[in-house]
Amino acid sequence: MRHLLSTLDLSRDEALGLLDVAEDMDAVNRREIKKLPTLRGRTVVNLFYEDSTRTRISFEAAAKRLSADVINFSAKGSSVSKGESLKDTAQTLAAIGADGVVIRHSASGAAHRLAQTDWIDAGVINAGDGTHEHPTQALLDAFTIRKRLHGDASRGKALDGVRVLIVGDIDHSRVARSDLWLLHTLGAEVAFAGPPTLIPFAAEHWPVRIFDDFDTALVEDFDVVIMLRIQLERMHDAFFPTSQEYTRLWGLGPQRLARLSPRALIMHPGPMNRGLEISSEAADSPQATVREQVANGVSVRMAALYTLLGPREEVGA
Ligand code: CP
Repeated sequence: MRHLLSTLDLSRDEALGLLDVAEDMDAVNRREIKKLPTLRGRTVVNLFYEDSTRTRISFEAAAKRLSADVINFSAKGSSVSKGESLKDTAQTLAAIGADGVVIRHSASGAAHRLAQTDWIDAGVINAGDGTHEHPTQALLDAFTIRKRLHGDASRGKALDGVRVLIVGDIDHSRVARSDLWLLHTLGAEVAFAGPPTLIPFAAEHWPVRIFDDFDTALVEDFDVVIMLRIQLERMHDAFFPTSQEYTRLWGLGPQRLARLSPRALIMHPGPMNRGLEISSEAADSPQATVREQVANGVSVRMAALYTLLGPREEVGA
């Protein structure tokens, strides 16, 4: 694998391969010394044109745990504010010898552009491009579901028959798209629930059931409920009347929490708008996996970096 740009491109074997390498990395992350020499001498650039907490710090931790040299680039405070283009920035990174570039950008397709031009000869990982995809978030979500379901026996397991409901602002969510493609490839049954104004038109052609009422969806016994952040920064129109109305119709509050099966996982990619799409009762309940998702993100991102940039021998050897 040369780049990791989308989960739509991943075959079932490639996805399971990445999840199984992440199992090896998870074992490393449970050691006292969480370090492998695998990427010594390699340079990874975190190229972030959009804000991030989890993705940026977990890619940095992942690269450092693999002994790579890490350069963190944030558009704020760089020559991007003077008008420098993505091409010139990429050529600058090429000149300093970047082997891998982790890119987050507000433009859908930015990661593909970087990977498909001759601006830089580096492995490219999409860390979120506009409303398009966020493949490592989907991989860490799948890893987290698999780990909760199968524990130490997760290796090699897909998610056949697992029922997943993704709720909220689907239209602006790259996580919803990447989750759908990956979970479907792994055999899960995926449903969306959200206001019709926040469901993409194209979704009727996707392998997903669509609910326009959260309470109707909850009558069904979903194994996993993924709550999405309302992405106010991408909304240039009024998609719902008020935030109170949104919470009443689409929030996971105490009453809906009580109706969930006690086995159901509650997931959220973060950052959470507590009190809007998810209540603290739900976010902090034992069913919630929010902090596990962040921890697993380091293992999954180590797996992605290793798969793209590492040698071809076994990790655990
Ligand atoms: N889930 C996620 O992408 O979070 P950040 O925006 O903090 O990276």
